[in-house]
Amino acid sequence: MYHPFIVGDVIYLRGLEEADLDKEYFQWFNDQENDVYTNHAVWPNTPEKMREFYDQVTQYRNDLVLAIIDKKSEKHIGNASLHRINWIDRHSKFGIIIGAKEAHSKGHATEAAKLLAKYAFDKLNLHRISLGVHEDNEAAIRVYEKVGFIVEGRQKDHFLRNGKYFDIVCMAMINKDKV
Ligand SMILES: CC(C)(COP(=O)(O)OP(=O)(O)OC[C@H]1O[C@@H](n2cnc3c(N)ncnc32)[C@H](O)[C@@H]1OP(=O)(O)O)[C@@H](O)C(=O)NCCC(=O)NCCS
Repeated sequence: MYHPFIVGDVIYLRGLEEADLDKEYFQWFNDQENDVYTNHAVWPNTPEKMREFYDQVTQYRNDLVLAIIDKKSEKHIGNASLHRINWIDRHSKFGIIIGAKEAHSKGHATEAAKLLAKYAFDKLNLHRISLGVHEDNEAAIRVYEKVGFIVEGRQKDHFLRNGKYFDIVCMAMINKDKV
């Protein structure tokens, strides 16, 4: 393992590094299939955008973006993130992407999300993590359910693709042990 930060069974999480930026990771955000359920790949990705994002998430303490690494291949297959961490009210927005498509449906997102959620509650002392997911993104909704996120509501007609509106399902998980 290279610079491991949180270690799981099949994957581990480590901090993003500059060297990650111009590898396959760059193309995840140009992949038009990723635009179906997210706002990725709407504008072309650029080295400047990658750099700006990297600087933001590594220099400040309001975001935590961890690279998901497959233990066996040592490949950077995705990212798991906490964004907009609010240290006063102790909540944050949760995000995950498995950009390497050959790594899909192997349980990697579920394992990474469980590790990061535990870290968010136990180490960062957050009370609530939440997210919004496209209503038809069944794989993502399944991942979040397996991790313990609960559906709180919907944002009606929040997402427009190919002339059709879709709802965003709002999900959250609360660490009831921490007040
Ligand atoms: C959503 C995403 C993170 C899932 O990653 P993954 O590593 O494939 O997820 P896992 O293997 O841990 O779990 C996927 C689950 O969804 C199920 N699933 C996969 N495709 C499905 C589909 N089309 N319909 C229903 N369930 C599906 C799998 O069977 C599995 O459930 P199970 O363990 O009960 O069998 C990945 O597809 C991705 O990165 N997508 C693009 C970015 C994205 O949508 N991010 C979420 C934004 S909110």
